[in-house]
Amino acid sequence: MASTYPSSDGSVVDRSDLVFLCPVDDVVEGEPLAVEVEGCPPLAVYRIGEQYFVTSNVCTHSYSLLTEGYQEGDQIECAVHGGTFDIRTGEATAFPCQEPLVTYPVTVVDGRIGIPTAGIS
Ligand code: FES
Repeated sequence: MASTYPSSDGSVVDRSDLVFLCPVDDVVEGEPLAVEVEGCPPLAVYRIGEQYFVTSNVCTHSYSLLTEGYQEGDQIECAVHGGTFDIRTGEATAFPCQEPLVTYPVTVVDGRIGIPTAGIS
């Protein structure tokens, strides 16, 4: 039985190498979802069209949860000072944010969103 799946970064991952965050049905476009999973930093899960993305949920400018901000297309705006990031790449796209967000490749398995355990820090 196959246990490997394609990931959003083009790699192929084994199911046993993933940590599962939430069902895809919990993720609504424009409403980033905060996810707390033991052993992981605070994470944000986003939907853009039929694609899913996972980033750190902590703004790199100062401490703020990005899921308390506003998603506009592929941009997430921090609620505290209005800086923005590209959800797809983590790139900081508006001042005062300058440091990129950590992003994680996403693998969907059986309707659940997974990220590699190896990349979690
Ligand atoms: S804390 Fe996010 S922009 Fe300042």
